[in-house]
Amino acid sequence: MRIGTWGLAAAVLLAGAAAAQAGQGAGDPGVVAGRQAGMRMSGAIMGGMKGAIDRGDDVKTQAFAARALAGWAKAIPGMFPAGSDKGATEALPAVWSKRAEFEAKAAAYAAAATALADAAKAGDKAAFTTQFAAVRASCAACHDGFKKPDQH
Ligand code: HEC
Repeated sequence: MRIGTWGLAAAVLLAGAAAAQAGQGAGDPGVVAGRQAGMRMSGAIMGGMKGAIDRGDDVKTQAFAARALAGWAKAIPGMFPAGSDKGATEALPAVWSKRAEFEAKAAAYAAAATALADAAKAGDKAAFTTQFAAVRASCAACHDGFKKPDQH
């Protein structure tokens, strides 16, 4: 009887934990939409910077946008909480199963974007162009192992 009660209590706890986990993903689709929107905006920022480089603009005009990228890069790990692997997401399960590697890719992106912002602030076009390529490489380095390949 005693064992039975404990067994029942354990089963209730387990069911509660499972429900809480499912609820985090299914009950909060906002985090998936939010991170996808952030990713698209970062793509738009990158496109704008490419235009500025090609036109030969003063790179100081890109300092604010570069700082925005760095801020977003630092926020990325928090945009992929446990349980947000369900629904309309292109994130691969590796985001959660290889967490340290995923966070290292986000940190590499943040470091590259911070250096990009420094180059912009200094008005150093050569350094800005080099760092822009480094940031773009950091996007691809993460997408390669953590995002489903584009369907189109
Ligand atoms: C640390 C990993 C990581 C880095 C770095 C990263 N991304 Fe992503 N990106 C992802 C993941 C994971 C997804 C899938 C998100 C989802 O669908 O839930 C994604 C999705 C996207 C999407 C598709 C969004 C949509 O659903 O329409 C775009 C566009 C994108 N990223 C652009 C970029 C650009 C540009 C950079 C660099 C400036 C970048 N990403 C850097 C991991 C990363």
